[in-house]
Amino acid sequence: MTDDRVFLDVGNVDSFPESVMRCFHTRGTYISVVRVGERIFAFGDDCPHIDVSLAQNGIIVEGELLCYRHYSRFDLNTGSVLEGPAEAPLTLYDVKVVDGRVMLYVDAPVTSS
Ligand code: FES
Repeated sequence: MTDDRVFLDVGNVDSFPESVMRCFHTRGTYISVVRVGERIFAFGDDCPHIDVSLAQNGIIVEGELLCYRHYSRFDLNTGSVLEGPAEAPLTLYDVKVVDGRVMLYVDAPVTSS
């Protein structure tokens, strides 16, 4: 089965240092991309608690995203809230590495639980 979706090339995987969020603005949406080990995650950059940039107000701790404005924690795999005060999950986006390039799918967010 072929993947005919359109991905946006956001750079070489080597330009994503471990656990450092990089924020991209595309099609009216801010999306953060981060590499954790061998995995790449992409999510809406606005904290679901209050609209602040997670790339500027967040940190990756043991594979989880911590927003240090009010210390909400999020599961990067599902986007779910691990600890409030945030109540809504992260909006996740499909992302993959193809030939060393990080490709981000921006047309349809992944539904998170
Ligand atoms: S703004 Fe992120 S937890 Fe409050």
